[in-house]
Amino acid sequence: MRTFRVGSSATLVALAMALIFGATGARSQNAAQAAKSGDAPAGNVEAGKRIYNKYGCYQCHGREGQGSSITGPRVGPNPIPYESFSSYVRRPLREMPPYTSKVVTDQEMADIYAFLQSRPQPPATMPAILK
Ligand code: HEC
Repeated sequence: MRTFRVGSSATLVALAMALIFGATGARSQNAAQAAKSGDAPAGNVEAGKRIYNKYGCYQCHGREGQGSSITGPRVGPNPIPYESFSSYVRRPLREMPPYTSKVVTDQEMADIYAFLQSRPQPPATMPAILK
């Protein structure tokens, strides 16, 4: 039977540190990416802007997705996760009209989402309550 020699304890400590920091580094990077994209399919910002205006989303949610207290809530620049976004647009629960896949295709949905995600962030100095 072969024996497996691990090495000095200093090597072990270095190895453990690399594993711990390497792993957490990779994990927070993945989390940041997932949060940014919301696991959304790739969309085209320019096309999304056209579609968003063409289907009248802007009439209730504003040209920049900023929303209004009367017609519809803010939907950009940090839209809700893609799954919820897409299912809400397909089957809204309250005032909003539904958009089936015959009207807004899955690709168009992804384009709209990309457009809303790309809206500029509010300035950092803005009080959190206004965001
Ligand atoms: C006639 C007005 C109107 C139009 C047009 C409209 N919406 Fe809405 N939308 C609303 C209202 C009002 C709500 C708030 C919930 C409700 O009453 O259904 C809403 C909610 C949403 C939500 C959920 C937001 C959240 O934070 O839960 C999303 C996403 C959304 N709209 C996207 C869109 C997109 C994309 C379009 C265009 C394809 C669109 N809406 C067109 C009025 C509208």
